[in-house]
Amino acid sequence: MRKKIIAGNWKMNKTPAQAIELIKELKPLVADARVDVVFAVPAIDIIPAVKETAGSGIDIGAQNMFYMESGAYTGEVSPEMLTDAGVKYVIIGHSERREYFAETDETVNKKVIKAFEHNLIPIVCCGETLEQREQKIAVDWIRKQVKIAFFNVEKEDAKRAVIAYEPIWAIGTGKTATTAQAQEICSKIRECIAEIYDAQTASSIRIQYGGSVNAGNAAELFAQPDIDGGLVGGASLKADFAKIVNYNK
Ligand code: G3P
Repeated sequence: MRKKIIAGNWKMNKTPAQAIELIKELKPLVADARVDVVFAVPAIDIIPAVKETAGSGIDIGAQNMFYMESGAYTGEVSPEMLTDAGVKYVIIGHSERREYFAETDETVNKKVIKAFEHNLIPIVCCGETLEQREQKIAVDWIRKQVKIAFFNVEKEDAKRAVIAYEPIWAIGTGKTATTAQAQEICSKIRECIAEIYDAQTASSIRIQYGGSVNAGNAAELFAQPDIDGGLVGGASLKADFAKIVNYNK
């Protein structure tokens, strides 16, 4: 049975001081969560966030990393830096990184491989635009994203990965995919993993839905057979996030 995983993607929000404040507020509210809880915080908040969440059961995630070990890459953060700081998860290939920072399926693949080399669990993002959905090419597009992201990734690593299906048209728009739409794509992603690896790998990997998840729609989304939790943006920045985490209580 896959354990659900609910991650807050704080994006470029919260200074270190504000991060501590939010963690202090959320910590008691998610203390008895029946799911894995992750706060994916801005790079500068990682060290204080790891400190503040120590012993709480909350894991800290990064929102990005580079695929090189070290060197002259001004502005980048390496996988070793994340591991050393106590980070467990790293979001890879979020659509905002693809759109504003020129990430490609190929860089996503390099980062996924590198994350596993450093014992980080990647949360690999995929998702279609509204245009692609209307043209009925969403499934093909996402299959391509997933196949390239997992190219040359070992089966034992893939089993531990998390995939986040985030339809771009649902991000920050207040427009959530219907449960049927989200379930359909998540099941196609699982099928794709089964094709790349096997049925056992497909049933181990966790697939999240992301895109305007809130306290009102979380329970229905997460009840779908192929949706193993959520990657939550806006609603993870307030105490309401606890209601999403505790959706099954
Ligand atoms: O990674 C989470 C995300 O892109 C969804 O954002 O604000 O629609 O929950 P939001």
